[in-house]
Amino acid sequence: MEERNFTKILIADDDRLFLRIITDMLENMGYICVTAEDGLSALEMAGKEKPDIILLDVVMPGLDGFEVVRRLKENLETTHIPIILVTILSDRNSRIKGLSAGADELLSKPVDEVELGVRIKNLLKVKKYEDYLIKHGRFLESMVRDKTIELKEAYDKTRNAYIDTIYKLSLAIEYRDRETGNHIKRISIFSRILARQLGLSEKKVEEIFFASPMHDIGKIGIPDAILLKPAGLTEEEFQIMKTHTTIGAKILQGSDSEIVRTAEAIALTHHENWDGSGYPQGLVAEEIPLAGRIVHIVDVYDAARSKRPYRKEGHTHEETMEIIQDIKRVFDPRVFDAFLECEDVFRRLYDENESGEPLSIV
Ligand SMILES: [Fe+2]
Repeated sequence: MEERNFTKILIADDDRLFLRIITDMLENMGYICVTAEDGLSALEMAGKEKPDIILLDVVMPGLDGFEVVRRLKENLETTHIPIILVTILSDRNSRIKGLSAGADELLSKPVDEVELGVRIKNLLKVKKYEDYLIKHGRFLESMVRDKTIELKEAYDKTRNAYIDTIYKLSLAIEYRDRETGNHIKRISIFSRILARQLGLSEKKVEEIFFASPMHDIGKIGIPDAILLKPAGLTEEEFQIMKTHTTIGAKILQGSDSEIVRTAEAIALTHHENWDGSGYPQGLVAEEIPLAGRIVHIVDVYDAARSKRPYRKEGHTHEETMEIIQDIKRVFDPRVFDAFLECEDVFRRLYDENESGEPLSIV
């Protein structure tokens, strides 16, 4: 008797004598044998025992061998198990039918022990190679999965660092004329609320969310004497103040990033008016990018409610809403309506963060 090699073979045949003979042959070759006496049991055993090879008789009660082969090959769990169909049918049609069903080998009764041994060894070699390929494929899949997760984490880190840098740069500029950096954070949050209210895609909402803090980045080019002036500006000073839009757009121009391109559009157009009376280009209606129209109304709301160098106290929500109603013509009517629909959220968010404590942007 050969040494046990733990290779398991399922033998299915309704002829108990044949089953005994084949089992003895295979056990003498060192294989572990499990048996079934009809087609359905063979299917069950195949799923439960996970044999390395299946020997199937063609003629069995219930499901015949052809049908059992077909079902085993259709099942992902058993499709890779080599199957030898054993038959007394030696006609050409039966052989073709067996191979078409998916059998890997055909063997005629009475079975020759030597032939059986050789066929099994050959099929095992093929199965070993297939098993290796499947295992290797799974290993590669798990490696790709791990790398994808790593890549996503690296992307998130880079993106967060990038956004953090934008915020810190915008904050540095805001600190010149505001007591806290909450203005730009509120602009971000308000713009996101309004963009969602308008039904924009989440991608667009996110772009506006991250781009809007840079709307006044051009103030870096405005002298302190004008930016921090406690009283109203002269006409000449106001002309200089207006250039923060074009300066901002110049700083941000030429980027590959969708966020920075949106930021450029917002910086340039957040003081444009729907009726054409705004600056710097006097654009009218749809000529103004939607992101600019959104940040416009949000900026007006937040500026009216905030303390400014020329105003000790900000306006209340009600006063601010009156101001906005009075200048309604300068806003996109659709954006204006959406703004009215979420004014309570704006009021609550502003009032909750009035203290000047750092506002979380997430
Ligand atoms: Fe501005």
